[in-house]
Amino acid sequence: MDGNGRWAERRRRPRIIGHRAGARAVNVCIDFCLERGIRALTLFAFSSENWGRPQEEVGALMKLFLNALDREVEELDRRGVRVRFIGERERFGPGIRERMHAAEDQTRGNTRLDLVIAASYGGRQDIALAARSLAADVAAGKLRPEDIDEAAMAARMALFDLPPPDLFIRTGGDQRISNFLLWQLAYTELWFTELLWPELDAATLQRAVDEFAGRERRFGLTSAQVADAATENSQA
Ligand code: FPP
Repeated sequence: MDGNGRWAERRRRPRIIGHRAGARAVNVCIDFCLERGIRALTLFAFSSENWGRPQEEVGALMKLFLNALDREVEELDRRGVRVRFIGERERFGPGIRERMHAAEDQTRGNTRLDLVIAASYGGRQDIALAARSLAADVAAGKLRPEDIDEAAMAARMALFDLPPPDLFIRTGGDQRISNFLLWQLAYTELWFTELLWPELDAATLQRAVDEFAGRERRFGLTSAQVADAATENSQA
């Protein structure tokens, strides 16, 4: 969700006005997923590194989170959205932590869309925590080192119960992953746009999905193998 600050600066407004506009764009994205039957959406709302921003901006963002949680959860629940947070939640104040917990509790039974908010999240931290959890089981004699494989790691990571993302969309013109879901993005298709996050609309999201649909995903295989597998699947 990149470009909120620049969106505001271009209008000679404080950066937090850009974040407010960014919060509105979140709804555009959720609406798009619900309308098209997209079952999982993970938003990178606040990285582990974002805590280092000026105190004033961090404080204003926390207020924005609180308000968004108070305002939106009822409606998300009504629309069948299951809300979940990933990241170091201990770093947030008690008010936000309570609301995160309440939002997850209230929406736990919903199945239309899994909405994951990555907050105080870092991809490297996600991998390190999974490694730590496996190491603790080895130390306790519950697991042998030779049992640690990709599946064992994946089972301890955030999003362990969701398929890896198909499509990664970054707004704001920069072409990098910036410590998002490093493990989970191994075979994800990447799509970048110069548009700033508050400018995101359904037409842009549709463009991303259309381009995604035209790409050949080989997962390390050859084009011929992928074509054969597609034929087999269509005959099955
Ligand atoms: C990146 O833009 C955006 C953020 C660091 C914060 C995004 C958070 C929200 C919009 C709050 C509401 C969200 C939810 C899910 C409740 P930037 O500040 O890095 O923009 P810049 O690159 O133009 O400076």
